[in-house]
Amino acid sequence: MRRIYLILGLTICTAASVLQAQAQIPEVEELLSKMTLEEKIGQLNLVTPGGGVATGSVVSEDVEAKIKEGNVGGIFGVSSPEKVRQAQKLAVENSRLGIPLLIGSDVIHGYKTTFPIPLGLSSSWDMDLIKETAQIAAKEATADGINWNFSPMVDIARDPRWGRIAEGAGEDPYLGSQVARAMVEGYQGEDFSAPNTMLATVKHLALYGAVEAGRDYNSVDMSKIKMFNEYLPPYKAAVDAGVASAMTSFNDIHGVPASGNKWLITDLLRERWGFDGFVVSDYTSVNEMIAHGMGDLQDVSALAINAGLDMDMVGEGFLTTLKKSVEEGKVSEEQITKAVRRILEAKHKLGLLDNPYLYSDESRPEKDILTEENRSIARKAARRSFVLLKKHKNTLPLSKDAKIALVGPMANNKNNMLGTWAPTGNPELSVPILEGLRNVAPQAEITYAKGANISNDSVFADKVNVFGPRIEISEKSPEAMIEEALEVSRGADVIVAAVGEATEMSGEAASRTSLSIPESQKKLIRALVKTGKPVVLVLMSGRPLVIEEEMQMPVSILQVWHPGVEAGNAIADVIFGDYNPSGKLTATWPRNVGQIPIYYRMKTTGRPAPESGEFQKFKSNYLDSPNSPLLPFGYGLSYTNFEYGETKISDNKLSKGGTITITTTVTNTGAYDGAEVVQLYTHDKVRSITPPKKELKAFKKILLEKGESKKVSFEISAEDLKFYNANLEFVVEPGEFEFFVAGSSDHQFTGTFTVVE
Ligand code: BGC
Repeated sequence: MRRIYLILGLTICTAASVLQAQAQIPEVEELLSKMTLEEKIGQLNLVTPGGGVATGSVVSEDVEAKIKEGNVGGIFGVSSPEKVRQAQKLAVENSRLGIPLLIGSDVIHGYKTTFPIPLGLSSSWDMDLIKETAQIAAKEATADGINWNFSPMVDIARDPRWGRIAEGAGEDPYLGSQVARAMVEGYQGEDFSAPNTMLATVKHLALYGAVEAGRDYNSVDMSKIKMFNEYLPPYKAAVDAGVASAMTSFNDIHGVPASGNKWLITDLLRERWGFDGFVVSDYTSVNEMIAHGMGDLQDVSALAINAGLDMDMVGEGFLTTLKKSVEEGKVSEEQITKAVRRILEAKHKLGLLDNPYLYSDESRPEKDILTEENRSIARKAARRSFVLLKKHKNTLPLSKDAKIALVGPMANNKNNMLGTWAPTGNPELSVPILEGLRNVAPQAEITYAKGANISNDSVFADKVNVFGPRIEISEKSPEAMIEEALEVSRGADVIVAAVGEATEMSGEAASRTSLSIPESQKKLIRALVKTGKPVVLVLMSGRPLVIEEEMQMPVSILQVWHPGVEAGNAIADVIFGDYNPSGKLTATWPRNVGQIPIYYRMKTTGRPAPESGEFQKFKSNYLDSPNSPLLPFGYGLSYTNFEYGETKISDNKLSKGGTITITTTVTNTGAYDGAEVVQLYTHDKVRSITPPKKELKAFKKILLEKGESKKVSFEISAEDLKFYNANLEFVVEPGEFEFFVAGSSDHQFTGTFTVVE
């Protein structure tokens, strides 16, 4: 059910909450009336037998016995229709009330058909594609018994030191909101009880991407105007799209950890936004409030349930202390009943109360998982996620009968293609780059050498290799490896060097303070460039990297993130020109780590630095670095060139109830057909709180054949220009706005309009 509700300043009346209070579900109420306090508390317990990836220090014990005793509401880390049927049987046939389980999983970028990492997918700026990947993920996961997904992660991230930037859609609240909606709609579809749709979870509520110093699990302290304007919009967009559940984050907000934060869970999420689903903690995040300094296990569990948290992931603080808290008057049974009701409602939505085995159809995996069709979408998604960072001469695309030296630690490597948080994917099924080039260009003469280790540091490698051998250090010396690469390059027309970060160099608990390509690989790149042959860098990473040195080299650079199961084929499609790259960055690439946080929506300050980039004393600039990023948000090249014509505006007065249309013409002036992401930015020149320098307001991705011109129009209403003022009211204030339409965020404004009363 989708909701429509009105925002009336701070007092919010939600149709959803009114409905919720009125429309109780008879089956749920009947169950509730039969439940003992212990059985209610049992429903709030989420366990994992440890089949998936344990991201905390514990996994649950005695899961089977607990299910039978009615002490479990949901499990995760269990998959296949058979195993899920077994688990449901334990609950349905052995527990007193026979309530089926929620079956959760982290299906972050595809289930077994692994798509590019989310940061890569967002770089496609293609919402239909993103939705399609979520639909396929839901189809595959439900075929394997899963009915509840711990995705999408919509945390705005402006600090690439934070490894989990890989899991989101980058830095921008507008784009992030579009992606959030597309993913929720993709996973949940139109009907929760259809066998191929699942509950989505918006995570991590909230502000997890703003952890101090980019160090995972760290604190966050942020003003409300920054939260509301910059960080909260994607979570709200997911709620508006009808997301069924929300996950709290590990960090604190205004001094209270998210899992115990009543303002966050109850006042904001439920009352202000009208969220009517259930809220789950992150992995042991209730217990972790002890380390945060919020009391003992009983205290923190009471804090969490009283804040409005419904389900406790793995830590069992609820299971082991809530009864005592009720007896001691610290928690009311009514509070517990509310939480149970929300969980039972989710089970009802899924159709589980009618048919606990809805997602246990043994015939489905073969039909639905890793099909040719799904893989072809993974290939399409990967191609569209790549961003051409640099073109040198006309090296790219390569001819299909070229003599190619393929070198680098990523060149013939299955273990680093899927990307972080792909525990349901199988690296063995991924297509390495060498194989992809051979598939797409069988006539090409390809020689290969590894050339370098991802890193030569074995201590670092051990930290990265927690889920498998991502960094493998060769017995050969680094010098001998480079020598081999030079040797295989000797007869080649062109060198393709596949370099970058191993998959677990980004992701959870993978923060870095250096964002450079590891030195072992930089040495290889320098040696290759010295040969004087054309060099193409195929760059993999889960985050923006610091590549100032490489950008200055005479090389072409194609950023491919971690592309997923079809990696090699998709890279070959682009390298040989069967697909012209069309991705654009969704997070700014800094020149150096010292510039972080750096993002395009920064404010001007009272002492802006000169536009020229020249240093001026007593201005807001650095002694040792320009302010400008290496590569701005929205940036990405193509094999062809796009020219933007004059931008026209239908009226330069915009009334509060009206709209204006901003139009430009884009022409493909180069030699290839290609797609361009046309972006509209505005700047609110005067308002009651300091505005960002520019804000993305709309975008369209268009296809242009070579020589073709197309008109692109954006309709803007006053609603689109709203922001949260100092009282957190969502308003637009009359006054002048500047705007431009371009293929990236770093352009000058070309026109103005005025919002009038
Ligand atoms: C992560 C979540 C994930 C959960 C369950 C946690 O460590 O922060 O994103 O959903 O583990 O696997």
